[in-house]
Amino acid sequence: MTQIRGVQSWCLGVALHLILAAALHQGLATVAPPTAAPHKDPGRPEKGSYVVTRSNGTACLLASMGLQLNVSFNSQNKTVQEVVNLQPNMTKPSGSCDSDRASLLLTTDAEKTNLTFIFTLNATSNKYHLSEVSLSADWPDMKEPLSANNRSLDYLRGTFGFSYMCHEEQTLSVSQDFSINTFQLQVQPFGLTGDQFGAAEECQLDEDDMLIPIIVGAALAGLVLIVLLAYLIGRKRSHAGYQTI
Ligand SMILES: *[C@@H]1O[C@H](CO)[C@@H](O)[C@H](O)[C@H]1NC(C)=O
Ligand SMILES: *[C@@H]1O[C@H](CO)[C@@H](O)[C@H](O)[C@H]1NC(C)=O
Ligand SMILES: *[C@@H]1O[C@H](CO)[C@@H](O)[C@H](O)[C@H]1NC(C)=O
Ligand SMILES: *[C@@H]1O[C@H](CO)[C@@H](O)[C@H](O)[C@H]1NC(C)=O
Ligand SMILES: *[C@@H]1O[C@H](CO)[C@@H](O)[C@H](O)[C@H]1NC(C)=O
Ligand SMILES: *[C@@H]1O[C@H](CO)[C@@H](O)[C@H](O)[C@H]1NC(C)=O
Ligand SMILES: *[C@@H]1O[C@H](CO)[C@@H](O)[C@H](O)[C@H]1NC(C)=O
Repeated sequence: MTQIRGVQSWCLGVALHLILAAALHQGLATVAPPTAAPHKDPGRPEKGSYVVTRSNGTACLLASMGLQLNVSFNSQNKTVQEVVNLQPNMTKPSGSCDSDRASLLLTTDAEKTNLTFIFTLNATSNKYHLSEVSLSADWPDMKEPLSANNRSLDYLRGTFGFSYMCHEEQTLSVSQDFSINTFQLQVQPFGLTGDQFGAAEECQLDEDDMLIPIIVGAALAGLVLIVLLAYLIGRKRSHAGYQTI
């Protein structure tokens, strides 16, 4: 019996160890900084909240996100790659809302950067998406002002009346020279009721992220079951043993 007790407590010890390790791993994973870029890493951008209102003052587009611009441009006869965070407290939103088209224009301090998002609603399917992005920038080290746009994008797909949410970092590639990294994004360009986001539709990246703890949990539950079975079988065997003596 003592031997079986020993096995049992060893198994429980291993299980507890695994649970602890899994918990620690989760904890560390959430605080770990993003992988450092080799050159001039600006870190994670701060999250900003932007509202576009109609002429009567009601909100028609809500966005909450951290934005990082990844731009390559000419500087003194050299092509440089610059990654820049948008500072929410130095960024002003504006825009407009029509029944099937909504725009969000973000303008930074001194109008050095104008970034426009255009969302389109398909009234037949009741689905919206980010269809167009344009950027014009005039940064100190640029030889000449840069402009980039793409009118045939298909990102951030959502349903009328719902918000689109993506907690994980997502890269929206706009042109060869320009992409946007979004962080903790939630946006709703159509079908707002009041100043609140509608129910969220989560992106695939977030769902995949949620899958990991579920798999770890299932594996641990399986382990506990095995330990329990081993213990029960062991106990039955030892009972049989006592009877024959
Ligand atoms: C504001 O205008 C929108 C559409 O133009 C309308 O649906 C909404 O009811 C108006 N809200 C108020 C408070 O007048
Ligand atoms: C910026 O874009 C370049 C070229 O597409 C890419 O190699 C680099 O990893 C990007 N950097 C970040 C921080 O997204
Ligand atoms: C850039 O290139 C042009 C022509 O190729 C040259 O005249 C100029 O001096 C160069 N500028 C720098 C800063 O290297
Ligand atoms: C904007 O936010 C940054 C970071 O939180 C802060 O350092 C800076 O002083 C703020 N600037 C203004 C104008 O509020
Ligand atoms: C709108 O959605 C319908 C149904 O999914 C589709 O047949 C149609 O082509 C879409 N219209 C546009 C302009 O994308
Ligand atoms: C941004 O837009 C404003 C207003 O239209 C304009 O005055 C400014 O020159 C633009 N900035 C750039 C870099 O294009
Ligand atoms: C615009 O975006 C689409 C889809 O991402 C891409 O296939 C196309 O090459 C882009 N156009 C330009 C001019 O970069």
